[in-house]
Amino acid sequence: MNKPEVVMIGLGYIGLPTAALIAQNNTYVHGVDINPSIVETINQGKIHIVEPELDTAVAEAVKEGYLKAATTPVQANTYLIVVPTPFKAKNEPDISFVEAATKAVLPLLKENDLYIIESTSPIGTTEKMMELIYTERPELQDKINIAYCPERVLPGNVMYELVHNDRVIGGVNEKSTEKAVAFYQQFIQGALHKTNARTAEMCKLVENSSRDVQIAFANELSLICDKANINVWELIELANKHPRVNILQPGCGVGGHCIAVDPYFIVSDYPMESKIIGKAREINNYKSFWCAEKVQTAKLEFELKHGRKPSIALMGLAFKPNIDDLRESPAKYIAQKVLQNSNNEAYYIVEPNINDHKVFKITPYQEAVDKADIFAFLVAHDEFKTLEISSDKVILDFCGVRK
Ligand SMILES: NC(=O)c1ccc[n+]([C@@H]2O[C@H](COP(=O)([O-])OP(=O)(O)OC[C@H]3O[C@@H](n4cnc5c(N)ncnc54)[C@H](O)[C@@H]3O)[C@@H](O)[C@H]2O)c1
Repeated sequence: MNKPEVVMIGLGYIGLPTAALIAQNNTYVHGVDINPSIVETINQGKIHIVEPELDTAVAEAVKEGYLKAATTPVQANTYLIVVPTPFKAKNEPDISFVEAATKAVLPLLKENDLYIIESTSPIGTTEKMMELIYTERPELQDKINIAYCPERVLPGNVMYELVHNDRVIGGVNEKSTEKAVAFYQQFIQGALHKTNARTAEMCKLVENSSRDVQIAFANELSLICDKANINVWELIELANKHPRVNILQPGCGVGGHCIAVDPYFIVSDYPMESKIIGKAREINNYKSFWCAEKVQTAKLEFELKHGRKPSIALMGLAFKPNIDDLRESPAKYIAQKVLQNSNNEAYYIVEPNINDHKVFKITPYQEAVDKADIFAFLVAHDEFKTLEISSDKVILDFCGVRK
């Protein structure tokens, strides 16, 4: 491989597709991951994650010699940081992975280099990393370019969206912004919007918080409507006939590693100001608890009415329809909570997108349909829409899949 132009730190759901895209444009990329088995897989031209079209992109880039993976970085001109930013206990963001990645490239940096963070980050992270770099390498002060550019791709459509989505790019100064824009222009067809680093960081957090708040509104309506004996799905459909109203659909909570996580990055730093954002997180979390309680109540009512224990089907575990990803899944939380309260009832846990799970025994949905008395629909998977369930069964439709 020729001398790499780009070092990509973190070869996961975002870093690997981005590395492959850059390499496909005949730019030499040195990918770095601390996980040796990921490095080995990639160097064989294979991938460790599920993402359409990524396998061919990586195979081609490795074969052509434009992408190589390793566990340590080497010198290049551009460094991209795409490592995880989870949250710790008390919902505080954990930027230790970004710090570790920055420390790994610190000794390699030279004048005119470009350092970009893509990881979703709390406000001020890019400036913190700039201070870290300049403290350790004072001779580079104002001589390298430092920017933040968040990622907003949708898993399942990453290879298309990486190229076509608009991007927000914020440097720590104008020169850094311009340098970063010039870098992304080589690979991206979407518009590149210039701003400063703090605004770019906040922009990513706000996008997901905005979704969370809107979903919380729908979930709150579902709680009110349940008490008021109003069909929430019909209500929302009617309200949305207003030309300027667009209420989202309620569900059994909010999951995944973005919408259910990123708002905490704002709330933990600005607790007094971010009232709606914090409340939305509470409402969406409460909705999952409420669903679990509803299942419990349905069980007791069934037993009182029929003089025997019911069998219960929990329909779906993923965090959204038609995927196999259970990260931060409210359906998984509800299943755990319901099973904690089990009292010798039979349970059928259904998730058509996975075959087995280390905690839950997965039942095929047809078997659950034949055997269960109570159906709690937690995820609106396509398979559940047309299932024939006899009218004497109890149906708890938390996600509107049977509406
Ligand atoms: N996945 C998404 O849909 C998505 C969308 C937008 C933004 N993001 C953000 O992008 C960032 C990365 O997310 P992801 O989904 O790609 O994560 P991921 O967990 O799939 O991948 C991150 C990779 O980084 C590696 N890593 C950790 N520390 C490292 C270090 N010091 N040096 C080298 N490698 C290291 C891990 O082994 C892992 O393979 C996160 O901040 C996330 O919030 C993700």
